[in-house]
Amino acid sequence: MASLETTYAGLKLRNPIIVSSSGLTDSPEKNKKLYEAGAGAIVLKSLFEEQVMKDADWQGDMGSYAEGSDYLVEFMRENQLGEYLGLIRETKKVCPIPVIASMNCYHDTEWVNVAKQIEAAGADAIEINILALQTDVDYTFGAFEQHHVNILRHVKSNVQIPVIMKLGKNFTNPIALIHALYLNGAAAVVLFNRFYQPDIDIEHLKQISGAVFSSEIELARSLRWVGIASAAVDKLDYAVSGGIHSPEGVVKAILSGAAAVEICSAFYQNSYALLNQYLNFLNVWMEQKGMQSINEFKGRLNVKDLDGVNTFERSQFMRYFSLHK
Ligand SMILES: Cc1cc2nc3c(=O)[nH]c(=O)nc-3n(C[C@H](O)[C@H](O)[C@H](O)COP(=O)(O)O)c2cc1C
Repeated sequence: MASLETTYAGLKLRNPIIVSSSGLTDSPEKNKKLYEAGAGAIVLKSLFEEQVMKDADWQGDMGSYAEGSDYLVEFMRENQLGEYLGLIRETKKVCPIPVIASMNCYHDTEWVNVAKQIEAAGADAIEINILALQTDVDYTFGAFEQHHVNILRHVKSNVQIPVIMKLGKNFTNPIALIHALYLNGAAAVVLFNRFYQPDIDIEHLKQISGAVFSSEIELARSLRWVGIASAAVDKLDYAVSGGIHSPEGVVKAILSGAAAVEICSAFYQNSYALLNQYLNFLNVWMEQKGMQSINEFKGRLNVKDLDGVNTFERSQFMRYFSLHK
């Protein structure tokens, strides 16, 4: 039987299917079930900046009771962080697979201290997700990328465990950013994070939330960028996240260069039993193709001609889109 083991961010995974950060991974009980269902690793629900920063917006609502508000803010902060550290500790007791903590942040402030506590609580790695839109008309191009590097560098210089960067979809050149992240100690990159999806209700003329869950069509973006990135910056690991709704999607992600996949929507919409189906498919597919290990086909279909990426993209555009009259 083929081996499904993979190495991701320096961690040994029994298989490449990671349950990504979400409500699916917010309790030790759920995490135990995910382990029993076959998950290769889990990324815990994110700890959000708003949950741990001292200057939470609501502090302003406390009016002139400065002393009381200071106490409350500190209490809230310690409590939320304490709960998160408890989630790590308790999950580690019942889940003998890698447990990756997730920090969803924006400012380059107290994360160093938080990261140290996450490490001390037993997390096997930290995934950083810097979630923000850049909308300032005075924005300096490259500033947000530099912000990623700064946060990574500060966290990385204070913890020993691997640090993984989960990126948004709006970078001009993800490859240059990934290269800078690699130079500053990132062990892996996740492509991509899923943002809130806005929609508009034309009946009631108001803004509403779009689909919370992804669809299969979103996979193409990750396949493109992992295919390029894994060839251009090949010293760190990649995980595809976004739009994997079939076991074939897992195979495609690995062929494009990913060492692992992070899945969430499909598990929400179906059940944990999907894990077993995906793993069975992977086993059968590998046997049919005569593959003994994940490494044998990881990146086999990534981009071989980096200089030709634009020629390829432009010619494919002309070829496929011009055919439709
Ligand atoms: C309901 C829900 C909750 C999520 N919560 C988080 C979160 O707390 N932190 C995070 O980094 N990503 C979060 N995500 C993004 C997922 O981890 C994942 O990267 C994204 O949904 C793409 O994978 P998918 O196409 O399999 O859903 C969430 C996604 C969903 C649908």
